[in-house]
Amino acid sequence: MTTRIGLVGAGFIAGRHVDVLTSIEGVTVAGIADPRADRAEVLAARAGAAAYAHWADLLDVERLDALWVCVPPHAHGEVETAAVERGLPLFVEKPLATDLGTAAALADRIDAAGLLTAVGYHWRYLDTLELARELLAGAPARLVLGTWLDRAPRVDWWARQDGSGGQTVEQATHLFDVARVLVGEVEAGWATGSRSPDGPGDILDVCTAALRFDSGAVGSFSNSCLLPRAHRIGVELVAPGLGLWLTEHQLVVTDDDGERVVDRDVDPFEAEDRAFVAAVRGEGDDVRTPYREALRTHRLAVAVATAAADGGTVRL
Ligand SMILES: NC(=O)c1ccc[n+]([C@@H]2O[C@H](COP(=O)([O-])OP(=O)(O)OC[C@H]3O[C@@H](n4cnc5c(N)ncnc54)[C@H](O)[C@@H]3O)[C@@H](O)[C@H]2O)c1
Repeated sequence: MTTRIGLVGAGFIAGRHVDVLTSIEGVTVAGIADPRADRAEVLAARAGAAAYAHWADLLDVERLDALWVCVPPHAHGEVETAAVERGLPLFVEKPLATDLGTAAALADRIDAAGLLTAVGYHWRYLDTLELARELLAGAPARLVLGTWLDRAPRVDWWARQDGSGGQTVEQATHLFDVARVLVGEVEAGWATGSRSPDGPGDILDVCTAALRFDSGAVGSFSNSCLLPRAHRIGVELVAPGLGLWLTEHQLVVTDDDGERVVDRDVDPFEAEDRAFVAAVRGEGDDVRTPYREALRTHRLAVAVATAAADGGTVRL
């Protein structure tokens, strides 16, 4: 049986999903919606799909089995609500929204409908993350350092606070998600941030947080978007006799035997899409970040960003 998929948003990340989805046997990308009709048409042509200027028409016209929501952070809410009302399984790109309220309300609607969901925290599918988790099982992390030192992506919404929620919510959220997997839940913290006259848009262009986890581990998370290119993006962990440095591409392990580099063997974007398609078809249950679970990461990222902007204490 063919699985018919629709996409809302036809930008960068939608293109990556289309390339994966069209390579999966038995999947048809049926329609793609974007208010920028030119983008919808170009991506739809690549996928052999129909193009729509409004997602409501996509949902009304196509008989879909699942919807991928690939819109900027500020555009979440209405489309997910409409999908929930239709009982349509939802893959939603991170972050869930610019704020907490929109996402928390959607999580309640999704739970009430018992809807199958996944969120694009793709680091969860890294085989190197799994290896890190196995290594830490024998020696739990005591210290975690997360860094996202990068340039500002050149899309119009990104450097606007009301467009993206800021870098902590939009990008560093991946670091918080990895830390939750490898270290546990955050119970307290403090954060600060700042803007320079040369910074892009109206967002904080430097932000740093000190967090305490329920295990007693402590962490420090910093991000900046002032650089000309990606510089340092990943999570370092210190455990008794064990050091780890996890990036999107590899894991560096330091232990009594010396240092070794383990390259990833899995394309995490492909893995997350294949896992959700399998779940929609009732053939698999490897969805690693359903909406409710993603909300826990989003809550943390919003709490850190809010503390950085207004006075320090991270309120969870
Ligand atoms: N998982 C990852 O690592 C990863 C990587 C890149 C982007 N993303 C996320 O994906 C989202 C989109 O990022 P992008 O880089 O593709 O941005 P983009 O600007 O390239 O694309 C977004 C598209 O959505 C469209 N859009 C805006 N409002 C819409 C609406 N109401 N309905 C339909 N389409 C609408 C825009 O016209 C644009 O074409 C962001 O939240 C971003 O964080 C995730």
